This record gives sequence, structure tokens and C-alpha cells, in this order.
Amino acid sequence: MNDSTNELIRIDAENTRPFLDEPALAASQDRIREAMSVLRNRSGAGNDFLGWIDLPAEGLERLQPLRDTAEEIRAESDVLVVVGIGGSYLGARAVIDALTPPFGDGGTEVVYAGNHIDGSYLQSLLRHLEGKRVSINVISKSGTTTEPALAFRVLRQWMQERYGPGEAARRIVATTDAEKGALRSVADEEGYRSFVIPDDVGGRFSVFTPVGLLPIAVAGIDVSALLEGAVAMRDQCADADPATNPAFQYAMLRDALYRRGRYIEVLASFHPELHYVTEWWKQLFGESEGKDGKGLFPAAVTNTTDLHSMGQYIQDGRRMLFETFLFAESAREDIVVPEEQDDADGLNYLAGHSFAEVNRQAMRGTALAHHAGGVPNAAILLPEINAATVGALLYFFETTVALSGYALEINPFNQPGVEEYKRNMFALLRKPGYEELRQKLTRQLGEEG
Ligand code: PA5
Repeated sequence: MNDSTNELIRIDAENTRPFLDEPALAASQDRIREAMSVLRNRSGAGNDFLGWIDLPAEGLERLQPLRDTAEEIRAESDVLVVVGIGGSYLGARAVIDALTPPFGDGGTEVVYAGNHIDGSYLQSLLRHLEGKRVSINVISKSGTTTEPALAFRVLRQWMQERYGPGEAARRIVATTDAEKGALRSVADEEGYRSFVIPDDVGGRFSVFTPVGLLPIAVAGIDVSALLEGAVAMRDQCADADPATNPAFQYAMLRDALYRRGRYIEVLASFHPELHYVTEWWKQLFGESEGKDGKGLFPAAVTNTTDLHSMGQYIQDGRRMLFETFLFAESAREDIVVPEEQDDADGLNYLAGHSFAEVNRQAMRGTALAHHAGGVPNAAILLPEINAATVGALLYFFETTVALSGYALEINPFNQPGVEEYKRNMFALLRKPGYEELRQKLTRQLGEEG
């Protein structure tokens, strides 16, 4: 297999070589080629959820209303609270964390709620909002998800007490289905502004809809550049030649390694600002592939931090995993190690080197060490972390997971397994309609019904 060089993303597969022979790669290449044709012809399972393919190009044409709303929120708010869970917040958080400074830039701060059920977090958030100008973007495709609905009930009341009903309603934007769901009803009744999530786009593929784009624009990120990066990647991902199509290459490697018993993929970024990109990736790949008893388990680490925790296992533990490094070849901002006369800390050998250079050698050293330890590893290399490359990266992952899912002969676009815990939780919380299940569960738990 050839490594390819292109503008937005480069895959280096050198450290997978001894683990994959040519026949294995050729078989995977055939499977991915077939998956590409299923995707292109829209003939596979879940083909009514392929709206994500055209979103970036469509988004570029329809940006103005979203931009206007984002500008208004930026002008009137110190804080935007994004209320949502899973695909309804991870994409925004991934992009915002990747592209804004970790300690803020003086613009509207974006914070998150409704992505878990923790009352102390919410109390602390309410205290954080005191005395600040606040807007809310509540996001739920179904409009019925418990976690964001609960948090929003609390936040909505807080907004009404703080601003009065009219101004509170003006400061709340709902992103939800055009017609269905409790959030749509609340938004219509209260007169919230709203953006619509298209029917043919699943939650984890929705980052290039208003689900992701509105909070991203409020954070001051160049949304056009993000979408342009994704559009450019779409063109590359349509290429039938694996040498110039990074999604083809990545899907092929994943397929070949999975079929050689590598059931866990560790995405190892070397940039803390990409932590939520790896969280978003985990959801995208876990929910898309993990079904019918199949699929790679997606795990993620952030290095070099996690080389001091998970590094031991990866180097030396059970040999059932492979690693995909995520690395930016040049830094947006950097610091050079200063020289010290007495060299008391023994670091003068690094004086004059940038942190980016030290980080790069850490990445190279890790790749070689893990390879020697029996862990095949590939690298996804970005020229830099910027709006265009992040847009390209997310689109590249979306295409890869569609190809990987079709190669596994599963439906990459549904998530039937996530309902089980919800039914149990509703029954245990005595939600009307769940009485029979409640009796069964309480017997199981040895409790009184
Ligand atoms: O990818 C998915 O479909 C899920 O992760 C959803 O995004 C998540 O469950 C939130 O659902 P909703 O947007 O309906 O509140």
C-alpha cells in the first residue's frame, strides 16, 4: 500500500507493514471498494440517513441566517449554554475546543449542559451564570432525550426568573426536528427561534448542520473555512484510487487489522485541544459499528499525557489493539525552550528547540516503541490544526465509518442498542407505561415493587 500526500490529510501506514501481508490488504481493498460503490449508489442499509454526504456544500449556501443569529448572540451574551447530548453536542465541542484558546479569547464563552445527569454540575453552572449575559441553544433531534430535557427545564426556569418570559424566550434558540418531539412543541409555544435538523441526518453525523454550526459560529470560528475543508475532503473521498483517497486507505487498514484479531482501535492524539475530536470520534465509530456482535471498540488517548497512564498497557499489555496517531505537523503557536546558564535541570540539550519539535519526536519515538512492542500503528497527519483541516478531518472520519460499516455488513446509521438502558431507567423512575418492566427489574434487583 502506498502512502499518499495531499493537502488536508496524509495517512502514514509504515508501522502497520509487518503486521499486514499483501493478500490481507488486497482482500480489504476489495471490500472497501465494494463499500464505496454501495455508498455511492445509496444502496446499503440505512440509506435514508445519507444526508450528511452533501451537508458541507449545502451548508455553505445556507449560512446567512445562522451567521446572523450567531452574531446577535455574540453581541448580547457573555455565555452561550449549549444543551445537548451525544451527537447533539460532541461535534460542536470537538470543533470549538480544537480551534479556540484553552483559556478563552475574551469572546462569548461556550459552556455545555444536559450531557449527563449530575445535579452538582448544574448548580455550579447556574452560579457561573450569575451576573453574566446568557443565551441558550437547546439541541435535540428527537426532542425527547431525558438528559438535555431535564437540564433545559432547570435552565429555562432560571432564564424566565432572570429575564422575564419575553426576554428569556428571545435568548433561547432551539435546534430540533421540524415537527416532532416535545422540544418542538415547547419552542413553538414559547416562541423560540429555531433551526431544523434534517430528517436524513443522524445525530452523530450532524456537526455540519445547525446542531454544530450555530455554537461553532458563536465561538467565533470561521464556519465557511470549516465547511470548505469538508467539501474539499468530500472530493478526495470520492476518488476510486486508494492512493489518493485517505478515507479509503484508513477504512482498508481498519478492516485488515480487525480481521487479524485487532479488535480495539486506540486513537492517540498528541494535542490536548483535539481531546473532544477523539470523544466525537468514539461516538461516531462506536455507535456506527458496534452492532450485530461486530465492530472495532474505539478507545482514545491524549499524549503525551496518557503515555504516563495508558502507555504501559499499549506497550506491553494484551496484543489485541492497534493504534492510530493523530498529529499536526506544524503548530499554530509555539514556544522555544530557553537556555539556562547553569543547566541545573539538565535541559540545555533542548534549548532552541520548539515544543512542537519535542512533541514530534515524542510521537515518532512512541510509534516506534509501540510497533516494536507488537502494536501496529498508522498516523493521520494534518498539516496544521485550523478550521479547514478540522472540517476535512471530521468529514474524512464520517466517510471512513460509512465504508467500514458497509464492509462489516452492518447498518452504520442506526443505534438500536442505546434504547435498552433508557427503558430500564424509565421503569425504575416509575415513568407511566413501564409498570410491567418495573416489576421485572425490581424482582431482579431483589427490591420491593
Ligand atoms: O448519534 C445519535 O443519534 C445520538 O448520539 C444522539 O445524538 C443523542 O442520543 C441525542 O439525541 P437527540 O438529539 O435526539 O436528543
